[in-house]
Amino acid sequence: MNRKYRKTIIAGNWKMNKTASETVAFANEIKPLLPKTRACEAVLCVPALNITTAQKALKGCRISVGAQTLHYEKSGAFTGEISADMLDDLGVKYVIIGHSERREYYGETDATVNRKVLAALAAGLTPIVCVGESLDQRMLGVEKELLAYQLMTAISGVSAEDMKRIVIAYEPVWAIGTGKTATSEQAQEVCEHIRACIRKKYDARIARGVSILYGGSMNVKNAAELLKMPDIDGGLIGGASLKPADFAQLIEISAQVENE
Ligand code: 13P
Repeated sequence: MNRKYRKTIIAGNWKMNKTASETVAFANEIKPLLPKTRACEAVLCVPALNITTAQKALKGCRISVGAQTLHYEKSGAFTGEISADMLDDLGVKYVIIGHSERREYYGETDATVNRKVLAALAAGLTPIVCVGESLDQRMLGVEKELLAYQLMTAISGVSAEDMKRIVIAYEPVWAIGTGKTATSEQAQEVCEHIRACIRKKYDARIARGVSILYGGSMNVKNAAELLKMPDIDGGLIGGASLKPADFAQLIEISAQVENE
């Protein structure tokens, strides 16, 4: 991380976990465990149905509540979908876009990810754009080309001014929910490459201001090592964000690494 130029973000992705009452129980449990001073930007992306419950339950504890996806159209006949304006109206700031599970199970493509990014930006939201290679792609050694393509498509048509509001999450698909973490060197190499791609498209000033997160089996044991890397500015955390003690500790760890 490099706190001089960019925000450190510890973001939880709850995926399809926790009912409304479990969300309240989580909030009550985590509140006394959180650092007293502002540590980093802490975000929990909860199921859309529980956003308001989470906001109320987490009030006053400096964790902002985000969403996990949105639709790219402003409104209309899209049963079951959620628009950027709906999220903005609830006071949501962060929204995950293009998570590999959305790509795999719900047919999201690089092109729809791009439309979603543009819709989120137009509504004033901050997209957390996910990119990542599969195991096969890594074995073939094409991950850098693939990531450059995913990234450039996702941010196609994004102005330099808007790029400052985007967060990128590098999530190697083979590391998600598998307990296999990328080594800090592997993750750093890719995050550095992502920053270089942003530099090439915009300039060095824009690139150094973009927070790039790592995601994939990040936990209290491996977080410090990953966060110490110069181009890793935080984490997008699945499983470990469901446990109040672990999520609080991850926030604490990021503060410790920042202060080193
Ligand atoms: P895990 O931390 O459970 O591997 O999930 C990572 C992830 O997909 C976050 O978006």
